[in-house]
Amino acid sequence: MVEKIVVELGERSYDIIVDQLLLSRAGDFIDPLLKSKNVIIVTDEQVARFYLHRLSNALEEKQIRYRSIVLKTGEATKSIASFGELMEQLLEQKPDRNTTLIALGGGVIGDITGFAASCLLRGVDFIQIPTTLLAQVDSSVGGKTGINSRFGKNLIGSFHQPILVLADVSLLATLPKRELLAGYAEVVKYALINDASFFEWLEKNAAAMLTGDNVLMAEAIVKSCRAKAAIVAADEREAGKRALLNFGHTFGHALEAETGFSDQLLHGEAVAIGMVMATQTSVAMKLHDASEAARVVSHFETIGLPTAPRSIKPDWDTDALMEHFKRDKKAKDGALTFILSRGIGKAFVAHDVLKSQLREILAQSCA
Ligand SMILES: NC(=O)c1ccc[n+]([C@@H]2O[C@H](COP(=O)([O-])OP(=O)(O)OC[C@H]3O[C@@H](n4cnc5c(N)ncnc54)[C@H](O)[C@@H]3O)[C@@H](O)[C@H]2O)c1
Ligand SMILES: [Zn+2]
Repeated sequence: MVEKIVVELGERSYDIIVDQLLLSRAGDFIDPLLKSKNVIIVTDEQVARFYLHRLSNALEEKQIRYRSIVLKTGEATKSIASFGELMEQLLEQKPDRNTTLIALGGGVIGDITGFAASCLLRGVDFIQIPTTLLAQVDSSVGGKTGINSRFGKNLIGSFHQPILVLADVSLLATLPKRELLAGYAEVVKYALINDASFFEWLEKNAAAMLTGDNVLMAEAIVKSCRAKAAIVAADEREAGKRALLNFGHTFGHALEAETGFSDQLLHGEAVAIGMVMATQTSVAMKLHDASEAARVVSHFETIGLPTAPRSIKPDWDTDALMEHFKRDKKAKDGALTFILSRGIGKAFVAHDVLKSQLREILAQSCA
């Protein structure tokens, strides 16, 4: 069943459509929104192999003219160099201000294409067709776009909202299991932030939805997108409440940086561990009961997500991790800001988290 979520942002409002077998019907949703029947699809090699022909056919059915640009698969594609190359390739197609870009892929493609759309001819429309679970529940929604610098991830970018998001649950069938689970960590994030009943729902349904029950999967994606849409609508540019979406991420980013943003630790895996560490920090600060933290750990263990840095590698440099915390772009005026919780579904922004407390958590979970 087609589900529609509206991201309410005034004149920048847009729909997120969630359903199975959506890609072959993409033209029905895209065509009415185009300023001209000219689009450029940006995708990666792996996604192109599976799905580019399906999107092409859907556009042809509506007589939409398209070109496609196929980028290399992987995070390295979000470099300044490949962004420059993408801009040149886009300009080669002689776009005008009415041209629309379509990002067909995971978060890497969505981020770089969205950023390209915000820069091309000072800004053109773009549409997100996310193909990973992470992109369907997180990166395609909310308008954060960007690329990486040697000084860190996502440091170059813009807020540029898409005009439409099409999340086709059926596309997840070809996604490697490990990527699916990593994306699932972001689903749990929404539950842990402000929806305890969603967490209960996930405890009951996660195993089935992660092994091919697309009806349940669609429901989880809709709940996640609704949660993100509400937070983004309340705080588009992260002046306040949107920071809650970083639950688990300050810990997670530090772990990712220390593993070189490599396949050793996927972003979602780092976030799963980070959420456990944030929950444990909250317990240590007597913000909530240890049994709530145990429930989170037990859920991740059942599903097959990691819950502690020590399960990734044995020799963490905890001083280096502390340095990352201090450098995290969410740190203000030297005070350490973390998203903590007062229990499942009760996350909040905590300023002044004690360094000694963090050292203790690191000592417990890294060794
Ligand atoms: N903009 C935001 O708000 C936001 C939020 C979270 C993450 N991100 C960014 O998202 C990126 C990570 O996104 P990701 O996890 O989707 O990674 P990704 O885009 O690299 O995709 C993961 C892998 O899955 C493959 N793939 C994609 N869809 C597939 C499918 N349906 N079938 C088979 N293979 C498929 C890709 O080719 C790739 O190898 C990071 O760069 C991160 O910074 C952005
Ligand atoms: Zn994330």
